[in-house]
Amino acid sequence: MTMDYSAVKDTIIHICQKAGEKLHRYFESGEFIHTSKGGLDFLTQADAETDEYLRKEIKKTFPQTELLTEETFAGSFAPFRHKESVWIIDPIDGTTNFSRGDSHCAISVGLVHKDVTVVGVVHLPFENKTYWATIDGESYCNDEELHVSGINNLGVSSVGYDWSWDTKERMRMFQSLRKFVPHVRQPLSMGSAASDICLVAEGRLDGYFIYGLKPWDHAAASLILTNAGGKVTKIDGSEWNVFDSEILATNGLIHQQMKTIIK
Ligand code: IPD
Ligand code: CA
Repeated sequence: MTMDYSAVKDTIIHICQKAGEKLHRYFESGEFIHTSKGGLDFLTQADAETDEYLRKEIKKTFPQTELLTEETFAGSFAPFRHKESVWIIDPIDGTTNFSRGDSHCAISVGLVHKDVTVVGVVHLPFENKTYWATIDGESYCNDEELHVSGINNLGVSSVGYDWSWDTKERMRMFQSLRKFVPHVRQPLSMGSAASDICLVAEGRLDGYFIYGLKPWDHAAASLILTNAGGKVTKIDGSEWNVFDSEILATNGLIHQQMKTIIK
């Protein structure tokens, strides 16, 4: 499929920023109706409405492509694997933060061709930051080109990690943290995987890892990070795919050290 990825990116940035304006209204109202999606995973009315808005706007501009969105997901990724073109969308990554008045959250949209992200946009509506990348270019935050940090020693690094809604995956994380925490200067759990992987791209974190993630949490951010000079694999260091449910995302320089300790 031939596409002008730069033009696609501009369109998606515009759509995400409009969606972000709507989120401001919810955030400022301070009232959130939570509905459990099962277990510990919740959504708010803002998640559902933003999901719908993004679907409608993207479908209007790109009618040929399929949509995999968090709030319409029907339980299987199989129909979306190896597809020529799929939009992978998280209307709010960091719903819990958002619904507790914490502004650390993002709208994430990735265009994926045959399991490979070709355009990624992660918009942080409350920080006025839009991270973006296309497969044939660099990555940026607003107009600033992004570069990962130069930190190559885990002992002076800041590394993000997070907790899945799946309690079995939480126990895996717990086991990894027992091994990992004594070696890292600053371990941080901030509650928005897409935003936190972008922080690695920006050099504000040096690495990030999690078990039990979904494609919409990392589809866009993974491209933003790799274009900024970072590295993305599974936690054991093996090749990563956008449909994998774990990620080790680093500046490249601490990748080997992290993998050896936490795997
Ligand atoms: C969540 C966030 C969080 C991570 C969870 C994700 P959501 O996404 O990315 O950081 O720990 O596993 O599900 O539910 O807010 O879209
Ligand atoms: Ca979400």
